[in-house]
Amino acid sequence: MSVYPIIMNQTKFTHRDSLKFPYEERALQFGDGVYEVIRIYQGEYHLLKEHVDRLFRSAEAVKIKLDVTNREITDLLLKLLEKNEVTRDGKMYLQVSRGSAPRDHIFPTDVTANMYAYIEDFPRNTELLKNGVSTITHRDVRWEYCYIKSLNLLPNVLAKQEAKEHGGYEAILHKDGLVTECSSSNVYMIKDGVIFTHPPSNHILHGCVRMRVEDFARELNIPFKEEAFNVEDIQIADELFLTSSTSEIMPIVKVDSTEIQDGKPGEITKRLQEAYEKDANIKTNKINA
Ligand code: PDD
Repeated sequence: MSVYPIIMNQTKFTHRDSLKFPYEERALQFGDGVYEVIRIYQGEYHLLKEHVDRLFRSAEAVKIKLDVTNREITDLLLKLLEKNEVTRDGKMYLQVSRGSAPRDHIFPTDVTANMYAYIEDFPRNTELLKNGVSTITHRDVRWEYCYIKSLNLLPNVLAKQEAKEHGGYEAILHKDGLVTECSSSNVYMIKDGVIFTHPPSNHILHGCVRMRVEDFARELNIPFKEEAFNVEDIQIADELFLTSSTSEIMPIVKVDSTEIQDGKPGEITKRLQEAYEKDANIKTNKINA
């Protein structure tokens, strides 16, 4: 995977090697910042507005003041694509921190938020999208503000690593027996033709793809219930899938040692995947090409 040479540093564009941060940078020392990951298909952002809106909601929630408007960030991100002449599938990472200042838990006064963004190639993993992935279940030990896309990802990192060490792609997190989401994606169960997923509370990230899944379900006349389900419910699920900007709509075919149905992606999940490809205007490297 390769990172494109031109990155955005504050509101300027520069070569990726020139980006340097002081050691007293709050993102490094406190994880004091927020971020977004935006999918790119054939050189165009997917769900750009939804991501930029969420960035502002996250920044406001942690009281980081951005010196740019929503429109300005949108234009800068579009320029970043242009300057790198991106035409392939990729992803963009954008990070905003409270700024660089002498280390103190208390917010520094007179500090400017630090913002940078870069793009890297990210081809679709059509093999996994076609065949589905294995997951593990894991206790959700995160904080109470999971709707904020915060840089503090240690519990997510540990859960995902645990999944990897058990041959899994993701960790399905549960709190007090209720499934919240995965370490870096939202999760859904289908039972008797109904899609269930955790309500958009402070216990989950309000995923941009999740919003679209809700739209697809409405368009396809598939009931969509924002109702949390139990870890035990997974055993009797008809279908399971997860969503994120990088994973898209990914079928889950195994949870711990339990195969979901016959270990193959279900029909409703496949219909949602088709709706996603249409919505994102995906023309090449399709799942069933
Ligand atoms: N993760 N839940 C969590 C905890 C996430 O980190 C993500 C995204 C999602 C899905 O959000 P969206 O549909 O807006 O991508 C849900 C990104 C991809 C990441 O951290 O790399």
